[in-house]
Amino acid sequence: MADDFVIVRDLHRSFNGFKAVDGVSFTIARGEIFGLLGPNGAGKTTTIRILATVLRPDSGEVIIGGHSATKDPQAVRRIIGVCPQELALYEDLSALENLVFFGRMVGLSGGEAKEQAMANLRLMGLEERAKGKVAKFSGGMKRRINFAIALMGHPELLFLDEPTVGIDPQSRNHIYENIVALKEKGMTVLYTTHYMEEADRLCRRVAVMDGGRIIAMDTPYGLKSRIGDPAKVTLEDVFLHLTGRSLRD
Ligand SMILES: Nc1ncnc2c1ncn2[C@@H]1O[C@H](COP(=O)(O)OP(=O)(O)OP(=O)(O)O)[C@@H](O)[C@H]1O
Ligand SMILES: [Mg+2]
Repeated sequence: MADDFVIVRDLHRSFNGFKAVDGVSFTIARGEIFGLLGPNGAGKTTTIRILATVLRPDSGEVIIGGHSATKDPQAVRRIIGVCPQELALYEDLSALENLVFFGRMVGLSGGEAKEQAMANLRLMGLEERAKGKVAKFSGGMKRRINFAIALMGHPELLFLDEPTVGIDPQSRNHIYENIVALKEKGMTVLYTTHYMEEADRLCRRVAVMDGGRIIAMDTPYGLKSRIGDPAKVTLEDVFLHLTGRSLRD
C-alpha cells in the first residue's frame, strides 16, 4: 500500500543454528498501532531489534519511512523511538538527566532536550521526581521513564516492547493512557504486550507469532470472528486456540 510506513519482507535471523525469526513479513500503515503477540520466545523482541537497527537480519528486508534498516540504519534511527523490554536506564543519573541524555543522543540541543524531558516527565506523572536518582525509583516508575525516553525527539514510529510488563496498576495506567493519546494523535506504533485486553483496545491489527513465524494476522475483530461470536470471544481465547498456550504460562 502507498501509505505503508513499515515494510518487512521475509525476515530471517538465527542464533547458533536456532531460528529465532523464520520468514516474517508484515506492513504497518502510517498512523496504525500494530500489535505483535506471542508466547515467550516467539521472536517478538528479535524482530523489534532488527527493525530498530540494533541487530542485523541474516536475510530479508526492512524499509521504514522509505529507508532500508540494513543499508541506511542512521536514517531509520532518526525517525524511531524505542522502549525496550529490558530497561535501559542510567541508575546513577536523575530521571531528568536520563531523558536529557537520550534527547541529546537523538540530536536535540541542550535546551530542547530539557524542555522535552520535562514535558515527558509531566505526561508520566513524574514531574516532581525529575531530580530524583533513578536507582531509588520503583519498578513501575522506571518503566515510565523507559517509556518517556522513547518519546524524546518526537519520533514518527514507536517500538513499544512490553511497556507495561509486571508493574503496578498506577504505572500501567499512566503508560496505557499515553499510548491512547499517541493513537489519537496518529502515531505509528509497533506494540508487544501480554495484556490481551490492551492489544484488543489499542491495535488496528495484530500479528500472532509463534516459533519465529507469524501464524495469524488480522484485526482483533477479524481474529475473534474466526473462532466464534466476536462480542463474546476474547483475544486471549484466540491466542489459546492458535498457539495451544495461554499467554501467561
Ligand atoms: N542474542 C541471542 N542469543 C541467543 N539466542 C537468542 C538471542 N536473542 C534471542 N534468542 C532466542 O531467540 C528466541 C526468541 O527470543 P525473543 O526474545 O525474540 O522472544 P520474545 O517473543 O520476545 O519472547 P518474550 O515474550 O519472552 O519477550 C528465544 O528462544 C531466545 O532464547
Ligand atoms: Mg520479548
